[in-house]
Amino acid sequence: MAARKRGPAAQQETKASEPTRNPPATNSKSVAEDPPIAPPKVLPILTIALSVLIPYCVAIFWYYDIEYELKRPILINAVLSLFGFFLTQRMIPVAAKYVSRRNLFGYDINKKGTPQGTVKVPESLGIVVGIVFLVLGILFQYFNFTADSNWLVEYNAALACICFMILLGFVDDVLDVPWRVKLLLPSVAALPLLMAYAGHTTIIIPKPLIQYFGESIDLGWIYKLYMGLLAVFCTNSINIHAGINGLEVGQTVVIACAILLHNIIQIGSSGDPEYKQAHAFSIYLVQPLIATSLALFSYNWYPSSVFVGDTFTYFAGMTMAVIGILGHFSETLLIFFTPQVLNFLASLPQLAGIVYCPRHRLPRFDPQSGLLTGTKDGTLVNIFLRLFGRRSEKSLCILLLGFQVICCLFCFFLRWILTGWYK
Ligand code: UD1
Ligand code: MG
Repeated sequence: MAARKRGPAAQQETKASEPTRNPPATNSKSVAEDPPIAPPKVLPILTIALSVLIPYCVAIFWYYDIEYELKRPILINAVLSLFGFFLTQRMIPVAAKYVSRRNLFGYDINKKGTPQGTVKVPESLGIVVGIVFLVLGILFQYFNFTADSNWLVEYNAALACICFMILLGFVDDVLDVPWRVKLLLPSVAALPLLMAYAGHTTIIIPKPLIQYFGESIDLGWIYKLYMGLLAVFCTNSINIHAGINGLEVGQTVVIACAILLHNIIQIGSSGDPEYKQAHAFSIYLVQPLIATSLALFSYNWYPSSVFVGDTFTYFAGMTMAVIGILGHFSETLLIFFTPQVLNFLASLPQLAGIVYCPRHRLPRFDPQSGLLTGTKDGTLVNIFLRLFGRRSEKSLCILLLGFQVICCLFCFFLRWILTGWYK
């Protein structure tokens, strides 16, 4: 939990071991003193929602001829997701009050030295997103799956993984687990899916390599190991590409939207029913992810009125990992994750302990100009500041999210170029 990890904003480099827990504030007087959080920001969500909804609707209703049996559950899921969006948006201010009451708050480090830097920002609001997502996921089964459905086992295993990850993320926020331990939490949370997974463990060899390896290889348990590692990577890579208002949720929304468009393109352009089902399965999970995350985004966008916590970063990473695994497009997923891969590579010396790793690897904020300057810490945030010069937190976030969009578009382009030649 941020408040327990950090205490006052001035302690940007607080060591995790320092006891920074605030005194309990459970009486009703202190609760009454907590001002309500700022209202949601509509413009950023409208921009993202419209720029994805338009191509998505064109693809699903007009461009592709998608059969009714597939379209129906997708649309039911979309309606449920819309409901989830409004529910999440309504619940966040309520939950914010409760988490603040239990001292789950953080200080905005990139506003240190200004009045905003002294405001207690409610932390771990990812818990609302996670709970609403799970409720939607559980309810949706009623509309789509018959009792003998093969998908049911894997679908519920996926939900169990996500649920387990939310629990461990929240535990991390509250107990402040040492970060080398928390690197491993997702491998524990991925167990339900690894144990229940009965799908194929065969990979199709890219065409240029068929002469060396044959058409396919059955990887057996190595495939499951790969699944576990993917879950560890997706969760942690989102968690460490963070620290700027809106970045944690923003990157999730951009990747999830790219996954949604990828799925619909694959469903529309394929004739294989099993392949289409796998992608429809991804859509059933990614639509609620986008809707609930967008609701959080409206509060987390600059200037953040709530923080998402590791509950959200772990939840989002695990959800996208299971979507990629069960939709059988983990290579594409990893290309969508290019900024996270770059950030991870830049972070390696500090993560491995070769270079000193402070508690927060954030840029330096100048309260006079309101601009951020890149530090030597190996993160994409700092690299971007060094490359493109000092800038405000909001414009840095837009720049980083723009880069995420470019990487996703590049992935679509790469797939388009390589189709027929690669696989
Ligand atoms: C990861 C990063 C850490 C980064 C932190 C920011 C690694 C190894 N760890 O740690 O370098 O500083 O995320 O999230 O790379 N905060 C802000 N503004 C924001 C978001 C967060 O100031 O927009 C601060 C708040 O004080 C908040 C805290 O970061 O309470 C949350 O940090 P937490 O998610 O607990 O950090 P880690 O995930 O452990
Ligand atoms: Mg975090």
